[in-house]
Amino acid sequence: MKVPFYEATREYALYKAEFDKAIADVIASGGFILGKQVQDFEEAVCKYTGAKYAAGVANGSDALVIASDILDFKNGVEILTPVFTFFASTSCIARLGGKPVFCDIDEDTYCMDMRDAENRITGKTKGILPVHLFLQTVDMNQCMKLAEKYHLAVLEDAAEAFGMRTLYKGEHKHAGLIGDFGVFSFFPTKTLGGYGDGGMIVTNNEELYQKAKSYRVHGSTVRYHHDYIGYNSRLDTLQAAILQVKLSYIDTAIQKRAKHAAQYRELLKDIAGIKLPVIQYENKEVNYVFCIQAEKRDGLEACLKEKGIGVSIYYPVPLHLQKCFEYLGYKKGDFLAAERLCGMVLALPMFPELTEDEVSFVCESIKEFYKK
Ligand SMILES: Cc1ncc(COP(=O)(O)O)c(C=O)c1O
Repeated sequence: MKVPFYEATREYALYKAEFDKAIADVIASGGFILGKQVQDFEEAVCKYTGAKYAAGVANGSDALVIASDILDFKNGVEILTPVFTFFASTSCIARLGGKPVFCDIDEDTYCMDMRDAENRITGKTKGILPVHLFLQTVDMNQCMKLAEKYHLAVLEDAAEAFGMRTLYKGEHKHAGLIGDFGVFSFFPTKTLGGYGDGGMIVTNNEELYQKAKSYRVHGSTVRYHHDYIGYNSRLDTLQAAILQVKLSYIDTAIQKRAKHAAQYRELLKDIAGIKLPVIQYENKEVNYVFCIQAEKRDGLEACLKEKGIGVSIYYPVPLHLQKCFEYLGYKKGDFLAAERLCGMVLALPMFPELTEDEVSFVCESIKEFYKK
């Protein structure tokens, strides 16, 4: 048996007629740039997440850059952000001339450590960019307490967090909708993923939304009149149409992921070399990625790959040790939790159409490895 890490074609086969029609309708309409389907999808995302406003953009990385630009994460201001995340969470600050100030993470939950963040606040700190990683949101209660106490703007990187919710002020709020801006990525592997790149900026603040909408079309609100030096970054109409079909099945997809996660947890719970992720009590998880912490990780990775099981290392190198961030002056040993995790973390196959037999095979293979 071979088990792919991720496989898009199984879902396509399930809903083929709907996907084909959605795509054909866009082509027949000719509305390729910001066509009707983009607006329909933005409205559907608002309805699903509870956002007041949503602006579709080309990808999650652009969404982060545009939101950082609007929030003035630039010109040397310091922005607190986790050191263990995907590169784009930090490059958005750095490319605009802001200074990323890395914070360590909690090893059990993979979430940004807000106490560490508070210790790094200086007179130049202007914002905080928390990242909701893998399967749950960071502690947004703590994050917003810091934001209020130190007057910080908050940009939530919810690229991986579609469907995740957290208890905030007595209510379960969708990831990305507590701070000033939130961003989603619709990269194909994401919980809500397209058939190409896509992204979205969400907010409950009308002024910020109007700016985001303008920034995605070269900073203009009236064609050929430019209020800002913006970007060319629009959600493709074809992707919006495809994503609309996927959104209609999102709860089923999330449930299927939860079932696989439960099976992994059950079958792996007694293996001594493995640590399973811990969910913060107030979070409604979504299993976008199922990561374990594994002793002898590299050996296990090689063994699983040899058996035809797709695995991935998210992330092998923490951001403070990336070559391009040498100028920030960090060194090995500065973020012990993140550095340790980079040597142990391993993502197992996770997508809705995975079968029970496939998950069992992955777990049996892991057990065998540790028996040797
Ligand atoms: C945490 C995080 N931030 C940002 C991004 C960037 O999104 P995209 O790939 O759509 O540019 C991703 C996804 O790849 C991500 O996982």
